[in-house]
Amino acid sequence: MIELAKRVGNREAGEGLLFERSSGIAVGSLLTVQQLTVADVAGILATAARLEAMAAAERARLLAGRTIALLFYESSTRTRTSFELAAKSLGAMTTLVSDKSSSIEKGESLKDTGLTLRALGAEAIILRHPASGAPSLLARMTGLPVLNAGDGMHQHPSQALLDLRTILQRLGMDESTVDAKTLAGVTVVITGDIRHSRVARSNAMLLPRLGARVILCGPVELLPETALGLETHAGPPLEIERDFERALAQADVAMMLRIQKERLAGVALDLGEYVERYQLNAERLARLAPKAVVMHPGPIIRGLEIAGDVADCAQSAIELQVAQGLAVRRAVLVRAMGVTA
Ligand code: CP
Repeated sequence: MIELAKRVGNREAGEGLLFERSSGIAVGSLLTVQQLTVADVAGILATAARLEAMAAAERARLLAGRTIALLFYESSTRTRTSFELAAKSLGAMTTLVSDKSSSIEKGESLKDTGLTLRALGAEAIILRHPASGAPSLLARMTGLPVLNAGDGMHQHPSQALLDLRTILQRLGMDESTVDAKTLAGVTVVITGDIRHSRVARSNAMLLPRLGARVILCGPVELLPETALGLETHAGPPLEIERDFERALAQADVAMMLRIQKERLAGVALDLGEYVERYQLNAERLARLAPKAVVMHPGPIIRGLEIAGDVADCAQSAIELQVAQGLAVRRAVLVRAMGVTA
């Protein structure tokens, strides 16, 4: 396709798609938060707001007649459903391929699955995969825009964008003019299984670029000093605080993470002790952070990293986060399909 392409500035156009010349990855792919400039982030949030304000019938014309595939090698409720509903609300046809009910079970490779979806008319693929970097590989192998719906312990960029929109809304900030200082003075404390968390990695790389102070909190088993490649971000430096109560007392936003039991093999963690030291419970919240916004990407494990009454309390933005998934994923889908909204 690149050979057929017509050059457009530093990008190339071919068969209706734009490609980055050096990488062969279709423009509009969303692979990591690092690939996004602050202006890109601002553009996505502005598009999300415009799409939200649009009449449903007008919105449903934007991707009418287009086909989007969801390819999921790991379980998901929020990400899969919101991407699917977002695509449908834009008028696109969707198809879901899951590792549990497809020829992936028979050994078909990621490449062949991607090429099969492309041959069937998919114009973009939303991929969740247990291997870090799989979305990038798929984008190169198919030439289609790929949206990373979570890859291993690496990245979950659409989650970080929806978390950003949630923070802006709950703190009463203007979503339409996001820049490198928008979150200056805002402290976000991310607590829990940071070692295994693609959500933590994406948020820790995105939020400081908008000026936020980010404190990472957890025991050494779940937060090694080198867990995130701490040197790779821009903005205020990431901080580590092992004492949850000291961290919580500084939080404008308390983002709790699930203990990922499925990734804990070989990690010596006493869950009783973890609950004692790190659970966000009502007493701690009232005493240390009575005004903080409580967030969690889900799924939540009530009674482990967060008490059930905290998840349900007025400070909790957990359901708002889920709702923002629809708004933000609509925006990244129109971007992927090269449609101006
Ligand atoms: N936050 C998140 O990725 O949730 P799911 O695993 O349910 O998609």
